[in-house]
Amino acid sequence: MGNIIEIRNVNKIYGSTVKTQVLHDISLDIEAGSFNAIIGESGSGKSTLLNILGSLDDPTDGYIRIDNRQISELSKKELALLRNETIGFVFQFHYLLPEFTAIENVLMPYKIKGKKVTGEIMARANELMEMVGLSDVKHNLANNMSGGQQQRTAIARALMNNPKIILADEPTGNLDSGSTEVIYELMRSVNKEMGTTFITITHDQRIADKADRIIEIVDGRVMESRRPALEAV
Ligand SMILES: Nc1ncnc2c1ncn2[C@@H]1O[C@H](COP(=O)(O)OP(=O)(O)OP(=O)(O)O)[C@@H](O)[C@H]1O
Ligand SMILES: [Mg+2]
Repeated sequence: MGNIIEIRNVNKIYGSTVKTQVLHDISLDIEAGSFNAIIGESGSGKSTLLNILGSLDDPTDGYIRIDNRQISELSKKELALLRNETIGFVFQFHYLLPEFTAIENVLMPYKIKGKKVTGEIMARANELMEMVGLSDVKHNLANNMSGGQQQRTAIARALMNNPKIILADEPTGNLDSGSTEVIYELMRSVNKEMGTTFITITHDQRIADKADRIIEIVDGRVMESRRPALEAV
């Protein structure tokens, strides 16, 4: 399979008077359908890199290609469309809208497109709620669910437009180990069944060990990019 994301010689420098270089000459290929973990110490540049991989942030220089489109050549509108249709985001704090129910939150990426919610779309949202195991609580307001349930809702929401890529920034950072396991099993099964490419930042070595590939960031550089031991046996 080909690469769904390619970045070349990416640098990121923050600040104009006092300059801090956060990413140094990063080149990476992300294979379509793969499950990737990004690990590294706090402040090493993981979130900065993930945001650039998802076109949420611009590099200072370097080249980014997502789903065969060169990001610097797209208009603002084309970029917004690419983001909404091709990439789903899951963050440590899920950012569900508290005044809406779980299923209304899941429908949000579709509604943003300004299209009418048809029976077919509603059926997809219901199917996703079932897939993440939340059929019983899907009409609860987002606030009236446990942290793990809210995070599973966020994953269903990220899947609503059937994106090719899901980027997750410590999606289980504030969950207990039981819920963490459930979320990763879910992400893995979506990866296997739907072929969705995952890139997830994690501090949890056990989770990283289950990925197809571990990308380690040290001081803004890719130090090591190895397949975990599991694959070797
Ligand atoms: N908007 C910004 N302006 C200036 N510096 C920033 C900005 N965002 C991040 N940084 C700096 O860039 C470095 C990398 O930050 P980043 O958030 O990518 O780290 P991280 O690896 O995700 O850390 P953590 O594990 O704590 O989330 C840090 O030193 C941070 O202070
Ligand atoms: Mg971070």
